[in-house]
This record gives sequence, structure tokens and C-alpha cells, in this order.
Amino acid sequence: MKILIINGPNLNLLGKREPEVYGDLTFEDYFARLQMKFTEVQLGYFQSNIEGEIIDKLQEVGFTYDGIILNAAAYTHTSIGIGDAVKAIEAPVVEVHISNTLKREEFRHVSYIAAHAKGVILGFGLKSYDLAIRSFLEE
Ligand code: DQA
Repeated sequence: MKILIINGPNLNLLGKREPEVYGDLTFEDYFARLQMKFTEVQLGYFQSNIEGEIIDKLQEVGFTYDGIILNAAAYTHTSIGIGDAVKAIEAPVVEVHISNTLKREEFRHVSYIAAHAKGVILGFGLKSYDLAIRSFLEE
């Protein structure tokens, strides 16, 4: 099974960025743990701070991968383009967030992705990604 994790803007700063909200682990370290844990999954990881690059990546893998785990970060709340790309592709997309966005500012309560996603997992810290992988495996 091929699954790609796509992280959006500022998630390259995990470990340094607002550790009280996002924790103190880098995503690279967490990704290595996921790879060790889910050896049966061909797990990939892509991060970009650029909206168009995220759309390009969704289009590139969206017709061949078995699943995509997307944390579009701030673009979740603004990007019709990323939402449209999720709608356009065939691979199921699970939207994830590290924090519980519904407990935070009102502008974070909107998602342009959720309506096109298979499901949404939020608020479990980095474990949200682990749960998303499991959602694909336990079908
Ligand atoms: C986030 C939540 C977003 O509102 C925020 O802009 C992020 C991270 C999360 O994973 O909790 O950058 O997607």
C-alpha cells in the first residue's frame, strides 16, 4: 500500500514552532517512527510552504497512490485550489491536524478540504498521522 503524507506551510518548523501547540518533535523524527512502525506501508513524505506545489503533488500522486494524508496547515482555511485538487483526484484523502482546530480561533473552524476528504482527524497531536494511516489499513 502506497500512502503519501503531505504537509503544508510552516510544518517544516515542527519541533521549534509553538511547541505548546504542536509539540517538540521534528516531523522528520516522527516520520522515521512511522516508517518503523508501519513496515507494510510504502510511506512517503512531502512538505511545501507553497500552495501551487501542494496542488502539483496532489495531482502527481492522486491517480496512483492508495491514500493521501493531508495537513494543508493554514491553507486548509483559505485554499479553494487545494480543495478542488482533493476533489479532482481519485486517491482517498484523509485531512489531518495536529491541534484541535475547532478549539482555536474561529478562522480555523473553516476547512475547504473537509467536504472532499474521506475523513478528518484532528487534535491528537502527531498521533493524528498514525491514526490516519491506520484508517487506511483497517478497511
Ligand atoms: C494545523 C492547524 C492550522 O490551523 C494551522 O494553520 C497549522 C497547523 C494543525 O496541524 O494543527 O499550521 O493544520
